[in-house]
Amino acid sequence: MKYISIETSCDETSVAIFEDNNLIKHYVYSQIETHKKWGGVVPEVASREHSEKIAHLLKKLGIKKLDLVGFTRGPGLKGSLLVGKVSAFVLSEFFKCPIMGLNHLEGHFLSPELVRNKIVNKIKFPCIGLLVSGGHTELWYSRGYGNYKVIGKTRDDACGEAFDKVAKILGLGYPGGPIIDKMSKLIKEDPKIFTVPEVKNSFDYSFSGIKTQVAYYVRDLKKITRKDKLRIIKSFQSSVVESLLNKLDLAVRKFGVKNIVVSGGVSANSFLREKLFERFKDFNIFLPELKYCGDNAAMMGVCMYRRIENGIYDGPTDVDDLLSGDMKNFKCI
Ligand code: KG4
Ligand code: ZN
Repeated sequence: MKYISIETSCDETSVAIFEDNNLIKHYVYSQIETHKKWGGVVPEVASREHSEKIAHLLKKLGIKKLDLVGFTRGPGLKGSLLVGKVSAFVLSEFFKCPIMGLNHLEGHFLSPELVRNKIVNKIKFPCIGLLVSGGHTELWYSRGYGNYKVIGKTRDDACGEAFDKVAKILGLGYPGGPIIDKMSKLIKEDPKIFTVPEVKNSFDYSFSGIKTQVAYYVRDLKKITRKDKLRIIKSFQSSVVESLLNKLDLAVRKFGVKNIVVSGGVSANSFLREKLFERFKDFNIFLPELKYCGDNAAMMGVCMYRRIENGIYDGPTDVDDLLSGDMKNFKCI
């Protein structure tokens, strides 16, 4: 079976072509350089860039025959998603093949199953998934492919968004996550300036408070030195990681599972990875390869493969359905 996946939910235009469980070609065009000057993703600019790049990327795949086309239907930026949906619709008409709407977060969740350009049975179930990206922070309980329950989520900012905003406050550049990750290695101990964010009696997260703590701390400093910046990011990163892992800990104990998936852009964070293995020694931990942490079409191809394999095809049936970016066909237990 030959199939294509298209991912355009935010600021990466990405396409992939698979043959069965083999990833044949994969392209990711990142718009980071474009959005850098605004310090964040500008939705209208993002959708324009997707529409300028997508045809070029699809052409590079050199499609001769197609059995199925999949696209990210949500969640994401409406205008950006639309570019992927329309492209998928055109391909399905042209190649007379079925179309499948996919959930972006399921793509992140399944991304650890891409190993050296192959889809492998890697994730063990039941498991708890910690999905950490620029747009989302969620905890999932999963009993198998296509069987997911959201047990906790952020009540305000996503975790990656907090990294980006803190970097912006400190004038470090965009995106903030990788910069903070790298810079915080330059200082050894955590100066414990900020408290660990916690939403009591829940699996939910909250990161807007720590972002405000950082803003006030910076405001109260007369002059900010490089050393101050290093202390701030070290403490910020440690508190955020501890907060993420505290709820993960609570979840694995409550649901009695031994398997953990951590994925999404922030799962590339080296301090998070280090603490994860330190704290969950007796668990099976599944992480994506670094190149599959951020948004990409290959992870969406994994969703397609698992859905076909498990008979959970739920693609849209008409154009109206195609144009709705919600999660109505997203199977939850
Ligand atoms: O999954 P992703 O590419 O896009 C969304 O679906 O949102 O995640 C992007 C986010 C950005 O906020 C970025 O700063 C963050 O992931 N990120 C990191 C690291 N690499 C990317 N955060 C912390 N440490 C990193 N190494
Ligand atoms: Zn994402």
